[in-house]
Amino acid sequence: MFVYSQNTGNKILQQIAWQRELLRIVIIVALATATGMSFEQPFWGAFLGLIVSQVLMLKRLNELYRWSNNQGSAPQDGGLVGYSVDILVRRERSLNKKIDKQGKQLKRIAEGIESLKDGVLIVNQAGCMTSFNRASCHLLGLRADTDMGQHITNLIRAPRFVSYFKQADYSDVIELESPHRSNITVQIQVAQFGIDQKVIVVRDVTERQRVEKMRQTFIADVSHELRTPLTVINGYLEMLEDADLNPGISRAIKQMSTQNERMKSLVNDLLHLSKLESDNAGIGNDWFELQPLCAISVDQLRAYRPTSLTGEKFPEATLSCDCVSGIEILGFSEEFSSVLINLITNAIKYGQKEGLAAEVKVSIHTLDEGLEIAVTDQGEGIAPNHLSHLTERFYRVDESRESTVGGSGLGLAIVRHALEHHDTQLKIESILGKGSRFSFVIPTERIRMKGSA
Ligand SMILES: Nc1ncnc2c1ncn2[C@@H]1O[C@H](COP(=O)(O)OP(=O)(O)OP(=O)(O)O)[C@@H](O)[C@H]1O
Ligand SMILES: [Mg+2]
Repeated sequence: MFVYSQNTGNKILQQIAWQRELLRIVIIVALATATGMSFEQPFWGAFLGLIVSQVLMLKRLNELYRWSNNQGSAPQDGGLVGYSVDILVRRERSLNKKIDKQGKQLKRIAEGIESLKDGVLIVNQAGCMTSFNRASCHLLGLRADTDMGQHITNLIRAPRFVSYFKQADYSDVIELESPHRSNITVQIQVAQFGIDQKVIVVRDVTERQRVEKMRQTFIADVSHELRTPLTVINGYLEMLEDADLNPGISRAIKQMSTQNERMKSLVNDLLHLSKLESDNAGIGNDWFELQPLCAISVDQLRAYRPTSLTGEKFPEATLSCDCVSGIEILGFSEEFSSVLINLITNAIKYGQKEGLAAEVKVSIHTLDEGLEIAVTDQGEGIAPNHLSHLTERFYRVDESRESTVGGSGLGLAIVRHALEHHDTQLKIESILGKGSRFSFVIPTERIRMKGSA
């Protein structure tokens, strides 16, 4: 079977071109030699023939050169020059087809980006905008005629964005008020694009923020409103506890009091959490000394004995704290003390094993990245599948176990929020049957020795 390929065709054409080229030279030289022989000068005739053939070749090469520079028409030639012209024309045609196809694809991508609801901006190495879509104009108030080529920080001037844009790590996103309309909140994410360009994606998150705020306000309002009726019920229950009633009713009133206490603590936790999540959180950042705060928290809880739902008191826990004096932390002392109290309370509640008193240790270690504060217990521990969920609101490991000491599952959510305000995160390590360790590292820039200011 004869298989004809493009390459075979090219080879045949190339051979024909070479043959014609050589034939042309041979004919010119032969004619010139014959003319030279009639003058009895065959050698000079052949020499002249060679020169003529070379001059003709140069002439065609010159035409090829001029044509390739868009000056004049393509040389009409059956030899090597004509063959080269054919190849170049074919290549140009196929390149044009590819450029056309890619142009269409680019146009489709550009139309897609243009129709997005999210703003997309591309900036060059210097930070100047090289393109942006229609949504960017709406969200950031950009104008295609005047703002193209401007530095991005000239248009989004918010200091938070400027420092975010300057940093090299863009794994986080930031949310800020649109520079164009104060009623729009935008989420901005920068990503490295190619070698030296950046793509900035701007998303409208106004609605999400509004719903989140509504949720916070609702929880705060409901919790606040619940406080008064709970206090009234508490008052009556206390009055009834003192009254001389039959043992059955007395027991029921005691249980009602315990549940009322739980509800009060739940309401207080919810209020605390919504305060931590609110916009005002983070006000009052100041230096405070760590040792007295630890000592107060530990002392406050020394006499704390969790009560089970049946009214049984747990054995008194052993608490120790090895905090040295003189260390100061930049933060929010009230939030910090609520972190310690929550962690120590948990360690007392869940740190006991087989009815024995819990042994709780608050320890401080200096690390390269800052000061580590850890609360350790020798209790039952927590199974690994629960660890990543513990800081979620209302998450409790084992409803039946926890119901004996009655937690609402908000304590660690409060701890997480409070620690975020101190630029740190809670680390939870636990071994089933051996105990748990809750720790966090206060970054170096938030620590100093007393008197070093
Ligand atoms: N030291 C610990 N040892 C074992 N389990 C723990 C420990 N600390 C917390 N947990 C588990 O994590 C869950 C969540 O704790 P969190 O403090 O958020 O809620 P809570 O103690 O149940 O309620 P609240 O603190 O709101 O009164 C607890 O229910 C408990 O199951
Ligand atoms: Mg707790």
